[in-house]
Amino acid sequence: MTTQVTLHGKVALVTGGSRGIGAATAVRLAREGADVAVGYVNGKEAADDVVRAVKELGRRAVALRADTGDATEAAEMVDAAAEALGGLDILVNNAGVGVIGPLDTLSLADVDRVLDVNVRGVFLASQAAAARMPEGGRIITIGSCMAQRVPGPGGTLYATSKAALAGLTKALARELGGRGITANLVLPGPIDTDMNPADGPYAAGQAAMTALGRFGTADEVASTVAYLAGATYVTGAEFPVDGGHAA
Ligand SMILES: NC(=O)c1ccc[n+]([C@@H]2O[C@H](COP(=O)([O-])OP(=O)(O)OC[C@H]3O[C@@H](n4cnc5c(N)ncnc54)[C@H](OP(=O)(O)O)[C@@H]3O)[C@@H](O)[C@H]2O)c1
Repeated sequence: MTTQVTLHGKVALVTGGSRGIGAATAVRLAREGADVAVGYVNGKEAADDVVRAVKELGRRAVALRADTGDATEAAEMVDAAAEALGGLDILVNNAGVGVIGPLDTLSLADVDRVLDVNVRGVFLASQAAAARMPEGGRIITIGSCMAQRVPGPGGTLYATSKAALAGLTKALARELGGRGITANLVLPGPIDTDMNPADGPYAAGQAAMTALGRFGTADEVASTVAYLAGATYVTGAEFPVDGGHAA
């Protein structure tokens, strides 16, 4: 068994670490021993709360603001994390936006925004991280179950953006494998967060699409991210955490 069991001495950046899946992931990685940079764009207070939670676990933490949909800020956040915490071993590309709606209602601004945050920002952050990661580096991206199976109308733009991450992850794995850096993709199903509350108007239908018949929790996604942060012989792979949405 060669799987690393703790992340002591590792530095992680979680984009969108202020809320939801990202906040749970930041705290979970800290529990495993990592120091954590917590990315946010608007939610400074929420990011500060996550920083406090990480520090209470005895780890170092810093909150960093960047709009990952901006042409330069995603890469700048990676550099700032490495400078603040003395290097970067783990990048969790979690920040994302969802614009769901009929095809004919999606504006050019919607298309640009979703692709900028969900695809371009992930690409640029991964590029910046790869440039400075040592052997053992980890790039873990949060995609969506909607890249595998779209259960109804309204998902064209979001599914397009999340599907792009499969190609990116496989190509990163091939490009960076020789340096001992892995790249993997996590595909959450319906997860109870601000983006997709379990008591929202479309929640019952989403829960019914899963084999388990319920929403997942941010902690249930974070535990898979933590596994991938420690896994040494897993790369270019996709991990549904979707309650059987794709079954
Ligand atoms: N919830 C689900 O059902 C579900 C299912 C599949 C996939 N996902 C994916 O999981 C990831 C996290 O989703 P979530 O449900 O936890 O979302 P959430 O509760 O809406 O939180 C989104 C996080 O991303 C940050 N963020 C948003 N736009 C950003 C930008 N332009 N630049 C930097 N940070 C930005 C937010 O920061 P602020 O706090 O500063 O606003 C926040 O920390 C997303 O990629 C989402 O697509 C979610």
